[in-house]
Amino acid sequence: MPEACSSPTVRPLLGELRVPGDKSISHRALLVAALARGSSHIVGLADGTDVRNTRRILEQLGVDFSDRSDGLLVTPPEGGLTEASTVLDCGNSGTTMRLLCGALAAEEGSAVLTGDASLRARPMDRVIKPLRTMGATLDGRSDASRAPLFIRGGRLRMAQHDLEVASAQVKSALLFAGLRNGVAVREPAPSRDHTERMLRAAGIQVRRDPQGWLLIVGGGQPHGRDWHVPGDLSSAAFFLVAASLVPGSDLTLRNVGINPTRSGCIDVLLRMGANIEVQPKMDGGVEPRADIRVKHAPLKGVEIPPELALQGLDELPVLAIAAAFAEGTTHLSGAAELRVKESDRIARVIEGVRALGLEAVGHADGWTIEGGRPTGPARVNAAGDHRLAMAFAVARLITPGGVHLNGVNAVHSSYPRFFRDLASVTAA
Ligand code: S3P
Repeated sequence: MPEACSSPTVRPLLGELRVPGDKSISHRALLVAALARGSSHIVGLADGTDVRNTRRILEQLGVDFSDRSDGLLVTPPEGGLTEASTVLDCGNSGTTMRLLCGALAAEEGSAVLTGDASLRARPMDRVIKPLRTMGATLDGRSDASRAPLFIRGGRLRMAQHDLEVASAQVKSALLFAGLRNGVAVREPAPSRDHTERMLRAAGIQVRRDPQGWLLIVGGGQPHGRDWHVPGDLSSAAFFLVAASLVPGSDLTLRNVGINPTRSGCIDVLLRMGANIEVQPKMDGGVEPRADIRVKHAPLKGVEIPPELALQGLDELPVLAIAAAFAEGTTHLSGAAELRVKESDRIARVIEGVRALGLEAVGHADGWTIEGGRPTGPARVNAAGDHRLAMAFAVARLITPGGVHLNGVNAVHSSYPRFFRDLASVTAA
């Protein structure tokens, strides 16, 4: 895997690509299948280590997985998940840990969840506190806000949660916890809605009332079904930016999820002047999908408001690279959550963009980037964060003096074949 590179030869991105399955939807497909009555079949599951961790942990909890030529067959244990004999290691995956907290809090048995150094430093009180109001027994290290986490599962009571932070992971944890006895959750702004969609598709009544409360009343058990995971827009975003930036590019990304609560990066790029054409597929699936064609176009700096930031949260690092090569200023606000991702993405992005030779300032909840002509040579450390590794790999394609990039192995969390795919579309 290429750690370093200097004086790149700029080659256009051409042809077609299928990015891996959506990571968020993959975690949920595994979890809903594990909690279901009857077997499920999943097609297009993401193959990164994050989703593999969810699968392995569910296996440790008694779920049977069988790889077939046409997908994955998931058969949950009769009578619910069983207690594992080992500590459950979520690796780098916040979604695995937070969603499992909700699911395991409502299942009989005890569990200990841990993760790598990055995950053990991330805030877990946002799931621990609301779950405790449902009667769950959960505890974390020292101030109860960091993993390793201890969970003693059991019967929970219905509770209302008016969340302070819009977080799909927290919302989803609470929905999973409330499957049996009900729950009400409201967010300050709408985060990605995959869990609601998928639970409904598995027969659970999840209602949204006029005051914005998401309600599961009466509860029930999801039924097994077929899941088709679309391509991951968060992975596609690296190619949308790369093809926008590299002259002569014309690339089509096939079968990508375009859930409107997730597609903020497309809106931001269009505002920047990108040449992107979305061709939706009218197949009526649980999650909307499309082929997306992107051609090179000169970009200009824009204002990224909080609602678009939330809908493109994981794509903000690569949108910062688009901003770095755009003409004019890009200002991002309402994205304080970036500080508590796999790394402090505001600090790391600003460090990296400055290393490219540009002016950039970090704020508590965003950044200001003065676009221009990055020169390099730059040294950038991806800090073990997959999204930073791929964002700066995109910058490396066109930074004249080259970018020496450390820590590119992090791509394995979400997109193990990223560098191979990048090479395949730039090979012509
Ligand atoms: C995710 C939700 C988001 C996102 C993460 C995946 C999910 O996190 O950044 O990569 O699958 O629910 P938050 O819930 O912390 O905002």
